Amino acid sequence: MGEVLRIAGGKRLEGEVWLPTAKNSLLPILAASLLCAGPVRVRQVPRLTDVDNSLELLRAAGMKARREGEDLSLSPGQPGTGSLPDGPVGAMRSSVFYLAPMLHRCGRVSMTLPGGCPLGPRPIDIHLDGLARMGAEGGWRGERLTLEAPEGLRGVDYTLRLPSVGATETLLMAAVRAKGITVLRGAAREPEVVDLARFLMACGAHICGAGTGTIWIQGQERLSGAVYRPVADRIVGATVLAAAAATGGRVTLRRCVPAHLEAVVEVLVRAGCQAQRLGPAALMLEAPPRLEGAGLVRAGEYPAFPTDAAPIVAAAFLRARGNSHFEDTVFASRFSCAAGFSALGAGVQAAGRRLDIRPFGPLKGACVTAPDLRGGAALAVAALQAEGVSLIGGTAHIRRGYGDLAALLRRLGADARWQDEESTRTFDGNKGKNFLVSCAESSIRP
Ligand code: UD1
Repeated sequence: MGEVLRIAGGKRLEGEVWLPTAKNSLLPILAASLLCAGPVRVRQVPRLTDVDNSLELLRAAGMKARREGEDLSLSPGQPGTGSLPDGPVGAMRSSVFYLAPMLHRCGRVSMTLPGGCPLGPRPIDIHLDGLARMGAEGGWRGERLTLEAPEGLRGVDYTLRLPSVGATETLLMAAVRAKGITVLRGAAREPEVVDLARFLMACGAHICGAGTGTIWIQGQERLSGAVYRPVADRIVGATVLAAAAATGGRVTLRRCVPAHLEAVVEVLVRAGCQAQRLGPAALMLEAPPRLEGAGLVRAGEYPAFPTDAAPIVAAAFLRARGNSHFEDTVFASRFSCAAGFSALGAGVQAAGRRLDIRPFGPLKGACVTAPDLRGGAALAVAALQAEGVSLIGGTAHIRRGYGDLAALLRRLGADARWQDEESTRTFDGNKGKNFLVSCAESSIRP
């Protein structure tokens, strides 16, 4: 049975949020545990479906993995055959992080196409080219990728065609146990790359320059395990800030790294919000009843405005007094949520990599469908400012990256809860029709 996220808009959000561990740090770190000869304990792991899928992949690779309270405990067992199960591989993009660790652990890796959010073309050519330069052999046969490294991987001096976050992480994981020295040039500088490097260094890896465009790695024959707490989730942080900005609210983020949210805060301050750092790990934002337009916001590689936050922060500007233009230089289809914004009554136009927002009438609750993970969070932020009830379908996307978005918003005073899709249908008297159709005809439509 499906579920929807039900939000009754119009509440001013206020309160305090402790940020969870970052999904985009956690997932490569879980894969990297395969490189370790000793046990790994990852602290404060949120309950995300991407984590469940990662656990399936780790178990298939021969790791013993179990939850202990909020932590995950991982220890090496018998290495598997190198084949990864199609289900979890196809469910998330992060299955690509298993290539390099599996080559070190099993000498081979075989998997189908990694899944993930439909944000436009997402090739993995840089991952594969870099691994080939380090000695991996093989490639695609139809939709199945098989790589082998009979002689092990060796260090190289490699320049990435573009600063891909995932490819930088893949090659970092390949290099820490390769023979000799690797230099990665044109590397991604995202905080999650730095966090992966910190985890690997905690396990004994020798890495220098993570967080800059050039990373040096001295390969080690063996890595130990470690106890590690990954960095705070800056995209969940941006979601909370956007929710407060959208509703004229006031929030404090705790356990955050304010520097990681600088580009987001700058846009919100330009639109009339007040922000204040409260020590090294806390940030307060207070929004006016209505934002000014954002002007032009261009999302790009760190430290620029984060692509993941673009649709979410854009949603906060649907009621703004002036125009806003969001452009994403990273992915071709970042703003698929624009159809949902329109259904809620916003004045938006999406074309290619750009989303234009102009002041329009008030937003009204509607039934919409999350097109992807961050697009789903963006629809929630939009629904918080709409008059009446909104129902957001496609919640499986949202659950990939937010432990419990409804509870998170409720803690700040929102009227938000999960509801069975079936009960919505029964209420509509439209059993059997698809979610959008049944909602469009529904008596709960304002
Ligand atoms: C990671 C994040 C994702 C974020 C993105 C950009 C994780 C699990 N996901 O995704 O949330 O939106 O960084 O900050 O960390 N590209 C190629 N060839 C490659 C690799 C990438 O052409 O081999 C292109 C992609 O199509 C995309 C761009 O490079 O247009 C950036 O992708 P990348 O930085 O690799 O993003 P991901 O690692 O997939």
